[in-house]
Amino acid sequence: MNSASPLAGPPESPSVSDPAHHIRELVTGYRRAKVTALAVDLGIADALKDGPLHVDELAVRCQTHPSATGRLLESLLEVGLVTRTGDNYSLTPAGELLRCDVPGSLSRWTTMSAGMQYAAWEGSAHAIRTGLPAFDAVFETSFWQHLASRPDAAADFDAAMADSVTESCELITQDPALRGATVVADIGGGNGKLASTMLDTHPHLSVLVVDLPGVVERAARALTRFGERARVEGADFLTRVPTGGDTYVLCRVLSDWDDTHAAILLDNCRAAMREGDALLVVGGLRRPGQPAARGLLDLHLLMIIGGRERTEAETADLLASAGFRLDRVEHSLSERTSLVAATAV
Ligand SMILES: C[S@@+](CC[C@H](N)C(=O)[O-])C[C@H]1O[C@@H](n2cnc3c(N)ncnc32)[C@H](O)[C@@H]1O
Repeated sequence: MNSASPLAGPPESPSVSDPAHHIRELVTGYRRAKVTALAVDLGIADALKDGPLHVDELAVRCQTHPSATGRLLESLLEVGLVTRTGDNYSLTPAGELLRCDVPGSLSRWTTMSAGMQYAAWEGSAHAIRTGLPAFDAVFETSFWQHLASRPDAAADFDAAMADSVTESCELITQDPALRGATVVADIGGGNGKLASTMLDTHPHLSVLVVDLPGVVERAARALTRFGERARVEGADFLTRVPTGGDTYVLCRVLSDWDDTHAAILLDNCRAAMREGDALLVVGGLRRPGQPAARGLLDLHLLMIIGGRERTEAETADLLASAGFRLDRVEHSLSERTSLVAATAV
């Protein structure tokens, strides 16, 4: 296969035919990220929820400078988030997703990505030189410790996780392993969104959500309607994973960690499990032959939490070292999310 084959890698972007333009578009991407976040953070998207508004009225409602607001709105027009009729602006379908009150809202995710995580990338050269997270260098604390001390940031993170967990929920709730399960231990289960989906879908199941102490308090509040079918336990899973499940789930957790910490986490899971218990590892898998397909996400994991994307083979090696047999791998329709089913041996 020669290097020009379309199968050799991801298709070339049309903009690469103009290399200088391509570079300018890449480097000025920060402006698009920031104007999008301004539409959320200044309350512009929410102010436009009931229909078109004149720029002066928007400036009053958002407590912003009228002329500067007009210039921001022209930028939002350029990036496809608003439309204009005269001096009145309204949201496009994409702009609607920046409102905080719509299903599938991306407002919290936008605030987190273009705020805290954007700031962390300031330390990206340090991360590439050292292999350590950029976040820790910029914020002088780890991402998880930062969330523990900042309820606003934790709320943004919870909402962003809940918004993006749908594909993982579908893969897990449809998996045959859940039909034979009695108690699912959702390790690193966050605010309980996956747990509540499993409990709604499978009335025979109980779920134990394990996460850091402050996080499971939020999960407990979200799961009260399930009564005794839902339990939570605060634990540092790098020290200990609780016993009591017959099926263990790591949903979007393993790729948060480098190989050393991922091995500790899997060892702790194995120590809590009995032979024959099932482990479901869910998240993105890097595909061999498509190195760039998830490359930016892989690097983002290094920048924020020191994690990494892995191939199926790399995941299988980690599992085998911790005492698991890989049984099968399932992919979501979009192929962005995969489920690796393993058994404790
Ligand atoms: C990327 S989130 C995934 C959350 C959830 N499973 C989902 O898919 O939406 C990773 C989770 O791991 C938890 N976590 C991080 N470090 C942890 C630790 N040392 N012990 C227990 N949980 C931890 C975080 O609080 C967070 O809820």
